[in-house]
Amino acid sequence: SIPKFVKIVEVGPRDGLQNEKNIVPTSVKIELIHRLASTGLSVIEATSFVSPKWVPQLADAKDVMQAVHNLRGIRLPVLTPNLKGFEAAMASGAREVAIFASASESFSKSNINCSIEESLIRFRAVTRAAKQLSIPVRGYVSCVAGCPVEGPIPPSKVAYVAKELYDMGCFEISLGDTIGVGTPGTVVPMLLAVMAVVPIDKIAVHFHDTYGQSLPNILVSLQMGISTVDSSVAGLGGCPYAKGASGNVATEDVVYMLNGLGVKTNVDLGKLMLAGDFISNHLGRPSTSKTAIALNRV
Ligand code: HMG
Ligand code: MG
Repeated sequence: SIPKFVKIVEVGPRDGLQNEKNIVPTSVKIELIHRLASTGLSVIEATSFVSPKWVPQLADAKDVMQAVHNLRGIRLPVLTPNLKGFEAAMASGAREVAIFASASESFSKSNINCSIEESLIRFRAVTRAAKQLSIPVRGYVSCVAGCPVEGPIPPSKVAYVAKELYDMGCFEISLGDTIGVGTPGTVVPMLLAVMAVVPIDKIAVHFHDTYGQSLPNILVSLQMGISTVDSSVAGLGGCPYAKGASGNVATEDVVYMLNGLGVKTNVDLGKLMLAGDFISNHLGRPSTSKTAIALNRV
């Protein structure tokens, strides 16, 4: 059996726009977040307080956050890799943050310039500071199904990092197939390993769609009892430090599948399509959402 309700975590404004060749104007980012907020989504990852040298696309994090932080009834987490990012996020009105570790040593180095163990020390400093302010912290594990350099990653390594993040106080652990190489064949054993150390209702899945495996991977995750799914409007996305990785699974496609399964999301597909059209028009290229392409034709 699968959950009756699925919480969708929209990551387009962050995971999507962090990888755009051309920098998207701040006003477009703000309008995108407003449009997404009108669809019924309850969580929208808004931006990242990371080094502008590493991710110039999100150098306007402060301006974006200041413009949207008062949106009512919606959670707007932001990525914070260290205390500096956490403090900047708080100063801009953020009320929820996410830290991001990797299950791959090589990817940790190329993404956040430190080893996994060093990153966990930094993240403990962030979770401690967040706890004092009662700020919820989400924890990401990336490369859960494979790494661009190291290839397959053992499920035990994913479970180790997930448990460390959970034990330091993260309220939710999002398992990221950063380069989109996983299939149900590798995702199921990985999830079983994590479920042995983190409660199922604290686990989220985050698939990139490089090989078109996201929807089958989401379906098996739901069948295993997971009820939180990350996705990106119009299938925007990719990590600038994961070469060849394509966008996240499109939110429109996830909602279409969940509607078909009779699973509630509270997300209005029509309004979501309009948000997808808005950003696709701005970027000057068609959406990668199959649902958006199909419904725009009929
Ligand atoms: P570093 O160069 O080792 O940092 O970068 P540092 O501490 O040595 O500082 C170097 C400079 O950066 C200094 O400035 C710092 O002040 C500044 P300078 O003195 O040279 O002028 N700095 C900062 N500036 C703004 N905000 C900050 C910050 N921290 C330091 N927070 C660092 C280390 C972690 C900062 C860097 O590697 C970084 O920003 N990395 C972020 C990379 C990133 O955002 N990747 C994408 C997100 S992860 C992802 O997409 C995967 C996910 O979607 C899940 C999945 O798909 O699997 C989550
Ligand atoms: Mg991602």
